[in-house]
Amino acid sequence: MAANAADVTSRARSSEVLLKVEDVELRFGGVRALRGVSFEVRRGEIFSIIGPNGAGKSSMLNCINGFYHPTSGTITYKGQPRKAMRPYVTASQGVARTFQNIALFKGMSTLDNIMTGRHLKTKATLLENAFWFGRAKREEMEHRKFCEEIIDFLNLQHVRKTAVGTLPYGLQKRVELGRALAAEPELLLLDEPMAGMNLEEKQDMARFILDVNDEFGMTICLIEHDMGVVMDLSDSIVVLDHGEMIGQGTPEEVSNDPKVIEAYLGVQEEGEA
Ligand SMILES: Nc1ncnc2c1ncn2[C@@H]1O[C@H](COP(=O)(O)OP(=O)(O)OP(=O)(O)O)[C@@H](O)[C@H]1O
Ligand SMILES: [Mg+2]
Repeated sequence: MAANAADVTSRARSSEVLLKVEDVELRFGGVRALRGVSFEVRRGEIFSIIGPNGAGKSSMLNCINGFYHPTSGTITYKGQPRKAMRPYVTASQGVARTFQNIALFKGMSTLDNIMTGRHLKTKATLLENAFWFGRAKREEMEHRKFCEEIIDFLNLQHVRKTAVGTLPYGLQKRVELGRALAAEPELLLLDEPMAGMNLEEKQDMARFILDVNDEFGMTICLIEHDMGVVMDLSDSIVVLDHGEMIGQGTPEEVSNDPKVIEAYLGVQEEGEA
């Protein structure tokens, strides 16, 4: 995988704000999923959103990638404020994500699933694609080569032709990461990439997340319940509870914040090992 040299910034050393969330509120009828949420994600960092079940973490990610539109407040990405934006527009601006519940084409192979992540990179016309000549053929071969590199990077060679529905859960999560990487995002949103994994699978995933961040300088915004993982990986953390921000800072600051300890860290999370 080739990283754009201009985009590569040493981890946590960048002061450039890639994403700014200001006073965001999100309502679903009477439910206030988010209120008064403000934070900044700097280019090149691993930023984590934590909080108990129903705190609004996935809703926040959904606002960032344009799936939900904040009821009020502003999200600024690469210096451009926006309120309403469709997910495909956000994706074309360099935002890719994985989902809390795996969203892959179960009957398709690992390689083909990862290829779907290249969709927005395709320039050939429908007609060129239909007859698979010229540009379409060249593009397809380039995309395939790129996806094969992702497969090597994520150690998925042995299952490249296997239907993903038959793969163990941990590998499916890894394929989903591969599909997101195929879009060559600048901002990668990961919604509980380790949920339901055993210890070994978690360690593998943590290593891949760090490698993606280190090798490609990719900015990562992560939701995760496993505190060990969050504290190890994150440069900065924001803590949500009932839609409100109750803390933010470095892993050390957050883990010593009495409010955070009371609301979250001291409580054994449902489903946590
Ligand atoms: N599409 C929706 N319609 C109505 N309510 C919603 C919708 N999406 C989320 N909510 C509500 O918003 C609140 C926050 O949900 P969200 O899924 O963002 O929490 P979460 O922090 O990701 O929780 P979990 O750790 O369980 O994944 C919850 O009360 C949830 O029921
Ligand atoms: Mg969630």
